[in-house]
Amino acid sequence: MSGSLVIAGLGPGAEGLVTPQVQAALAQATEIVGYGPYVDRVAARPGLTLHPSDNRVEIDRARHALEMAADGRRVVVVSSGDPGVFAMASAVFEAVEAGPKAWRDLEIKVLPGITAMLAAAARVGAPLGHDFCAINLSDNLKPWALIEKRLRLAAEADFAMAFYNPRSKARPAGFGRVLEVLNEACNDARPVIFARAVSTPEEVIRIVALPDARPEMADMRTMVLVGTSATRVIERNGAPYVYTPRSVPE
Ligand SMILES: C[S@@+](CC[C@H](N)C(=O)[O-])C[C@H]1O[C@@H](n2cnc3c(N)ncnc32)[C@H](O)[C@@H]1O
Repeated sequence: MSGSLVIAGLGPGAEGLVTPQVQAALAQATEIVGYGPYVDRVAARPGLTLHPSDNRVEIDRARHALEMAADGRRVVVVSSGDPGVFAMASAVFEAVEAGPKAWRDLEIKVLPGITAMLAAAARVGAPLGHDFCAINLSDNLKPWALIEKRLRLAAEADFAMAFYNPRSKARPAGFGRVLEVLNEACNDARPVIFARAVSTPEEVIRIVALPDARPEMADMRTMVLVGTSATRVIERNGAPYVYTPRSVPE
């Protein structure tokens, strides 16, 4: 049988948020390739080989997956959330473009997953109900100055914002600077949502006004959502609802 390569999103964590299409691809795979904690989410079974690897070796991992697919194996590369959102799908296509011509003949399928941004938004209501943007706050693969520029322009355009990779041990200061830039650019008390480990047993959701947001409210398992100037908080006995209205007046 000829080999195949599927790049699949496992969703934010809960088993019920893995799509049936991804479950079927995992059931047919002979090899699972990915960052260790994501590969751990796939149950071992006879006929399936797990290939966990470290963080930050995406291109090596992508090449390994392509080599095995070219060798006739049924390979699934797994990402958390959606594989096209700050994840493995781009790494695989970078490797295809730079690699041997034969890799272009492989059947490569990308299977979407529920990205953390959408899972986090759903937990509080509809904060991304109007125009929004998604920004990766890690400066591993881009200059910090570009992150600040995009933040300022997104605030000026009054987009809601979804931040991936807000803060890590290697980058302790960056998120504090992000909050400074936002407070300067927005100058209001729009809601900020800190959604940690969404859909897992460790899930914690916190909603604060922008001036009260603190760097230590985020870590690498947190999705940060920032409302627009029009985003509303509906107070109630339980946790408040947060939503952004569908329309902006003329
Ligand atoms: C490298 S990005 C991968 C994003 C992933 N491809 C997706 O679509 O969700 C990792 C970042 O996603 C966010 N993230 C992933 N899973 C999450 C979850 N269950 N709860 C909150 N944030 C999550 C965090 O911001 C984390 O630092």
